[in-house]
Amino acid sequence: MNSIALPLAGQRALVTGASSGIGEAIAQALAAAGAKLLVNYLHDEAEAQRVVRAIREGGGEAVAVRADVSVEADVESMFAVMQKAFGGIDVLVNNAGLQQDAALVDMTLDEWNKVISVNLTGHFLCAREAARAFVRQGPIDGLSCAAGKIIFVSSVHDIIPWAGHANYAASKGGIMMLMKTLAQELARSRIRVNAISPGAIRTPINRSAWETPEALARLLELIPYGRIGEPEDIGRAAVWLASDASDYMTGATLYVDGGMTLYPGFEAGG
Ligand code: BGC
Repeated sequence: MNSIALPLAGQRALVTGASSGIGEAIAQALAAAGAKLLVNYLHDEAEAQRVVRAIREGGGEAVAVRADVSVEADVESMFAVMQKAFGGIDVLVNNAGLQQDAALVDMTLDEWNKVISVNLTGHFLCAREAARAFVRQGPIDGLSCAAGKIIFVSSVHDIIPWAGHANYAASKGGIMMLMKTLAQELARSRIRVNAISPGAIRTPINRSAWETPEALARLLELIPYGRIGEPEDIGRAAVWLASDASDYMTGATLYVDGGMTLYPGFEAGG
């Protein structure tokens, strides 16, 4: 078991969609906890390199790798780079995801397929590669109690229905059963599989929900704790789930949402 100061010392982590937003904060937090990082990105190499530089300046190790998580060959070659750069993998954070919002009656099949293929199929492809590597390597003495950890970044919309976002909500509901099924399937190989379901976190994906005072006020009506989440709130949860501090936890979802899933509409009603 590693020290509390650097709970991930020596561990090797791959974070998908790590060039901005929640993925970036998770990569930074894991690196600060002692992990070596593969920073995956799709479009913005300059931003991914910025994240890599920041990790190196903090004394950590990191590489940036371009891969579309919904493309099997891209995922396989990204894991091959991981193996080559760090000799293995201990933590996968399935974070890459997107929204393509439309009312059901206007939603195109392309919009449906795009969101499902990145948010759900992409998570399956990466989890499969990570599990293969974890099973091959088994638990490593002095590194971690587990052979490996998979963390899915889902959403409160794995249980809160979301009108106008059928593709996104369906992908997140799917992640919940993917996560639980993999947790059940992999536990005997000492692989832990958990999810973080963030609420409203200040990132580019939901800019329109927080960038004006009026929008922010409307958003805060949905958050009993009275503030928007920051990406670092999710980074800290990811460090805990990746570390041996959560060693007895598998198949669970941490809702990091300021109470958004507590039915705030019932505070003074019902
Ligand atoms: C979505 C955000 C939204 C939040 C809370 C997230 O999963 O990506 O756009 O603000 O859920 O509704």
